[in-house]
Amino acid sequence: MRVIEVDNYDEMSEKAAELILEKIKENKHANLGLATGGTPVGTYRCLIKDHTENKTSYKNVQTFNLDEYIGIDPDNPNSYHSYMKANLFDHIDIPAAQTHIPNGNAEDLAIECLRYDKMIEEKGGIDLQLLGIGTNGHIGFNEPGTPFASHTHVVELAQSTREANARYFNSLDEVPTHALTMGISSILASKGIVLLASGEMKADAIYELLYGKIDEEMPASALRKHSNVTLIADKDALKKVKGQRSVACGQ
Ligand code: F6R
Repeated sequence: MRVIEVDNYDEMSEKAAELILEKIKENKHANLGLATGGTPVGTYRCLIKDHTENKTSYKNVQTFNLDEYIGIDPDNPNSYHSYMKANLFDHIDIPAAQTHIPNGNAEDLAIECLRYDKMIEEKGGIDLQLLGIGTNGHIGFNEPGTPFASHTHVVELAQSTREANARYFNSLDEVPTHALTMGISSILASKGIVLLASGEMKADAIYELLYGKIDEEMPASALRKHSNVTLIADKDALKKVKGQRSVACGQ
């Protein structure tokens, strides 16, 4: 795993945007895997700024989001559909039909999971997957204990995840209990992965990711099995790994 240490959130965001823009320059038909949450907001802001100033086009890009809550209308401001529109899609020239997000309102969720994985595969797979990490080590909504062999599936959100996301809702009770998420195996099928981490709250998870056991109890540790992962983390997120960096990162 390649580790890029940056000073702060803004530098992390700029670096991540740089890697995404490089990918689009290399292949204007790039398939991008996208995440939601607080971490990538700055990255999306940098992409919007670049689009405005440098006119990078997304007309041929396809995007695939990691996850969506179950039982929330796509128009609900807290849905990941709304998040993606507000934070990125409404500000760049990507055709709506090329933005893909699991449908948490599908009548048959099992069929929706199969459809989502099959669609990604049929479109040639993900070239670059952007990830955040939960304080418990989740990636996507793959909570501790999720099989590494998992494809897109329905999950019950961990209490810590619901509490962390309650900041976007009026109360904890409003945070959905279930979500659809790409599985660990779907994520590992991406050709390249960029994991972002900012802030001391992520320091334990980043330590475990780099030095802990590769174990299903620590979902992000699966990333050590992939040969093209870049972690962009700020000083606070790397706080616990100081002095140990030389032995870190395996590959
Ligand atoms: C979001 C996602 C989650 C978040 C993680 C970190 O699509 O898949 O894994 O990346 O919960 O969230 P933030 O960035 O809010 O700390």
